[in-house]
Amino acid sequence: MERVAVYPGSFDPITNGHLDLVRRGLNIVDRIIIAVAINPQKKHMFTIEERVEMATKAIGDNPRVTVGSFEGLLVDYLKKQNTHILLRGVRAVLDFEYEFQMALMNRRLDRSVETIFMMTGYKWFYVSSRIIRDVVVAGGNVDEIVPDCVAKKLREKFAEGCFNKNDR
Ligand code: PNS
Repeated sequence: MERVAVYPGSFDPITNGHLDLVRRGLNIVDRIIIAVAINPQKKHMFTIEERVEMATKAIGDNPRVTVGSFEGLLVDYLKKQNTHILLRGVRAVLDFEYEFQMALMNRRLDRSVETIFMMTGYKWFYVSSRIIRDVVVAGGNVDEIVPDCVAKKLREKFAEGCFNKNDR
């Protein structure tokens, strides 16, 4: 039977750390669905359309990876995708408590759900979407740590000076 994992997140924006996790995740499962979360409560730098577009471009032409979006409960999205496997990356101890909480809550909501945690690649240990946004807003360069399409998009946003306008 085909093993499909959902890899959920805000992906605001997708980074090389995320892509590394997808690449390594494919050694464990047959297919990965990158699930970009729509969360009206959360302030994002990029709109949901932009986040999905960047993730899709970054993945390139890989029939084993698709990109989708979801709103509401993650466990409901898993059901819709007909799988019970979640994939999440863990960088440092700092991530652990939040990830542990989410995994337990998801399992409480749906007993069949299992979360696979993978350690981040050592090269990307310090990389997060938040730190990338901070650096770019302050005028720094992140070209080596995000996919090319994301670097381009970040430059465009910076040039337009519209970093704080996307609240979705
Ligand atoms: O990249 P992030 O922001 O750490 O991703 C968090 C995300 C989107 C995976 C999480 O907030 C989520 O699953 N949201 C959907 C709502 C939900 O199902 N909540 C219950 C699990 S805590």
